[in-house]
Amino acid sequence: MNNLITTCPELKPVLEELFLVSGYLWEKGWAERNAGNLSVDVTEIVSDSGIEQARTTQRALPFNYPLLANRYFLVTGSGRKFRDLARDPARNTCILRISENGSGYRIVWGGASIPDFRPTSEFPTHLRLHEYIREAGATERVVLHTHPTELIVLTHLPEYRDEASLNRALWCVHPEVKVNLPRGVDFVPYAIPGSESLARATADGFRRGRSVVLWEMHGCVAKAESPAVAFDLIDVLNKAASIVLKCRSVGHVPTGLGKEQIDELAREFNLGE
Ligand code: 13P
Ligand code: ZN
Repeated sequence: MNNLITTCPELKPVLEELFLVSGYLWEKGWAERNAGNLSVDVTEIVSDSGIEQARTTQRALPFNYPLLANRYFLVTGSGRKFRDLARDPARNTCILRISENGSGYRIVWGGASIPDFRPTSEFPTHLRLHEYIREAGATERVVLHTHPTELIVLTHLPEYRDEASLNRALWCVHPEVKVNLPRGVDFVPYAIPGSESLARATADGFRRGRSVVLWEMHGCVAKAESPAVAFDLIDVLNKAASIVLKCRSVGHVPTGLGKEQIDELAREFNLGE
């Protein structure tokens, strides 16, 4: 780790923020065992740093990602734990480089002393989202998947299993939800974890402009400029979900802010809709 920072000092603030957010995820109870994963596009930071000294063998990707060719990603390892990340980043994360034609990758740092180290099993989703970010010319660099308890509970309740009901329920219980997530959430019906269908459905949700994508009975995904911003989006949403559930647990189904009040927020805060 110290070697990494000596080779590439610009990585230090990225890693420090990542460690901080990993701790938050664990403390929130959204990162049981190996739950959740994170990737950061570090191309601009590491590409000229001479980081690429370890020459591991190339592994194939299941699809071609030409928009990601030659890009570098810091990615958490499959089965690794967020709670261990700061203590031993070289065992729990890696930096990999996508090949010149976008059909494979090579680990250039990390995954240390773990013979079968692999990037997260949700790598298909991370790749599709970074591909979408490139396609859209966006400034985001981070993709975060986690298991926020109250949001998952909402996706178990039949009345919230569609995008319109979820957005209405989350926006109406607190004004800051609309302010921080003006484009709301997308709802992806249950799909096998780690699958390409889950990855594509998630990218479609962002393509339709949503701020966060919820995975039914599983968790959610955010993309943002930094790990802290991705965390904050999910934190605001999960707070709203917990207000919905607390109201319901005292026997009140919240009606909350009406459409007029939500439209007024959009106008007052120039939220663009
Ligand atoms: P990984 O340990 O492979 O990252 O999987 C965790 C997870 O949350 C899968 O959805
Ligand atoms: Zn998960």
